[in-house]
Amino acid sequence: METTCILFLLITVLSLLIISPNHCSAQLKRDYYRNSCPNVESIVRNAVKKKIQETFVTGPATLRLFFHDCFIQGCDASVILASRNGDAEKDAEDDLSLAGDGFDTVIKAKEAVEKVAECKNKVSCADILALATRDVIVLSGGPNYGVELGRKDGRISTKASVGGHLPLARFNYKQLVNMFASHGLSQVDLIALSGAHTMGFSHCSQFTKRIYNYSNQKSIDPTLDQAFAKQLQQECPRNVDPRVAIPLDHTSPLRFDNSYYKNLQQGKGLLASDQALYTTRKSKRVVNAFAFNNTLFERVFVSAITRLGRVGVKTGNQGEIRLDCRVVNS
Ligand code: HEM
Ligand SMILES: *[C@@H]1O[C@H](CO)[C@@H](O)[C@H](O)[C@H]1NC(C)=O
Ligand SMILES: *[C@@H]1O[C@H](CO)[C@@H](O)[C@H](O)[C@H]1NC(C)=O
Repeated sequence: METTCILFLLITVLSLLIISPNHCSAQLKRDYYRNSCPNVESIVRNAVKKKIQETFVTGPATLRLFFHDCFIQGCDASVILASRNGDAEKDAEDDLSLAGDGFDTVIKAKEAVEKVAECKNKVSCADILALATRDVIVLSGGPNYGVELGRKDGRISTKASVGGHLPLARFNYKQLVNMFASHGLSQVDLIALSGAHTMGFSHCSQFTKRIYNYSNQKSIDPTLDQAFAKQLQQECPRNVDPRVAIPLDHTSPLRFDNSYYKNLQQGKGLLASDQALYTTRKSKRVVNAFAFNNTLFERVFVSAITRLGRVGVKTGNQGEIRLDCRVVNS
């Protein structure tokens, strides 16, 4: 890869960051709780630390939960609401594989916040999820960044609102771009945020077709490294236990780094939607730049996840400060 190409890309990416329309969010701010709960950041950080020590799933589970929350009804913690009838957001098919430890992280952190007298009834579950997400990224070796705060919690969570609004593992590049664009996120945001797949696991069913039945033939997806495909066939035999999960980034599944992009360069993206980022001239250039320069990846990721955190936020009396993250206030 040429240096000129990288330089050119750097300028493109940086200019995108500067001219982005929602560069400053009107409502959210980093010091939103300065007077009402000045220690909220350390309270949440300690709760997340404790939870990570209990189980490593905490990191990927929390990061994915934030993404799913923001894409459905905005970042309003609606994904955490439970329903007696099993018809809440979390009961939708695309959310069934959300690991319970992500929910538990937010619930525990909220309990820790509520225990501090001055913070009682002040901090939203949506903000706690945004903070916990930053914390798991930092605790996994990723970039630190200031989190914008001031979200209110939603009061509506329906199973029906999910279908068709989350990206699927079989999506091609165009489908991914369109879905992210519908939330005001750019191609560069899409590529940077997909870097979250540097952490965590996927069930075999999400990529069985790629290794056994590509375009409904008995063949392997040609964009997949053939030796890697054989390895995946061994890890995911045809009648595999549906609970078996494979690292999304086989080199370092619990480290937040740019190895995800290096995998894509080698045809080792696990999901079709991962490898799809390496199929157009423009997106390939971005992937190459992130694979080459981890600092660049981290910078662009921080800007992208900040923008993700602004999607559909509720402020003022559009929402509430939930007392228990699992149920709306009565
Ligand atoms: C670009 C479109 C995306 C698609 C198609 C997609 C799809 C998936 C799928 C199918 C899984 C495996 C689920 C399972 O079998 O249990 C997964 C896991 C995961 N996703 Fe995504 N995802 C996308 C973007 C994102 C974004 C933007 C984030 C966060 C910013 C994210 C974070 C994660 C994490 C951390 C995991 C691992 C979860 C765990 O180990 O519990 N994904 N994703
Ligand atoms: C491959 O996929 C097609 C279409 O989804 C399906 O009809 C067929 O049974 C599959 N074949 C195998 C071997 O899984
Ligand atoms: C990597 O990216 C950072 C952040 O944009 C930049 O300052 C640095 O010069 C880049 N390093 C190389 C080797 O290109």
